[in-house]
Amino acid sequence: MIISILNCDKKYGIGKRNGLLFSLPLDMKFFRETTQGHTVCMGENTLLSFPGSKPLKNRTNIVLSQDPTHNYEGVINVHSFEDFLRAMKEREISDTVFVIGGASIYRQTLPYVDQVLLTKVNADGGAEVFFVNLDENPDFECIDEGTPVMDGDLEIRFTTYKNKNKKEII
Ligand SMILES: NC(=O)c1ccc[n+]([C@@H]2O[C@H](COP(=O)([O-])OP(=O)(O)OC[C@H]3O[C@@H](n4cnc5c(N)ncnc54)[C@H](OP(=O)(O)O)[C@@H]3O)[C@@H](O)[C@H]2O)c1
Repeated sequence: MIISILNCDKKYGIGKRNGLLFSLPLDMKFFRETTQGHTVCMGENTLLSFPGSKPLKNRTNIVLSQDPTHNYEGVINVHSFEDFLRAMKEREISDTVFVIGGASIYRQTLPYVDQVLLTKVNADGGAEVFFVNLDENPDFECIDEGTPVMDGDLEIRFTTYKNKNKKEII
């Protein structure tokens, strides 16, 4: 199973200045617990946004970068989108695979995911980069709308969308 996991604001915004829009401890806990022990796939910018640019612990990290000289320690390095998909498919045989960003990776992998775990934040974060509006995408169906809960000062909902038209990786 391949699952995208992310949070977005009211306008489907997901980031600004190569950073996140909000600080969300509860959502962070959800992210950590959900991805723990599994495979996480990301673009280079997302790896570089982590503390010390280090991969996430206790997870298999797959990183896509355009430049073949960019190879990071402790991760599976790939340098083309085809190899990225292939690596995901290989891990999917024995593991749940999570797509963890950023914006360009969420967009390109969207046809291949089974589900999107989307934490919706009831606020406008003034985003510069956006995810696809899944409510307007005929391939996606909301199968869990979640219940509003407070995460610090912000109201959030843990929603789940299902891809009704998943494209197989060949
Ligand atoms: N809200 C959330 O849950 C969440 C989660 C994660 C990230 N984000 C946000 O997303 C933003 C970052 O997004 P981003 O798109 O800049 O970063 P990204 O997806 O992490 O990384 C883009 C990198 O991947 C490479 N790449 C992308 N597509 C490629 C392809 N087809 N072939 C080869 N290389 C490819 C790019 O290379 P080139 O530049 O050389 O093309 C670039 O180095 C930040 O604001 C971050 O905070 C939000």
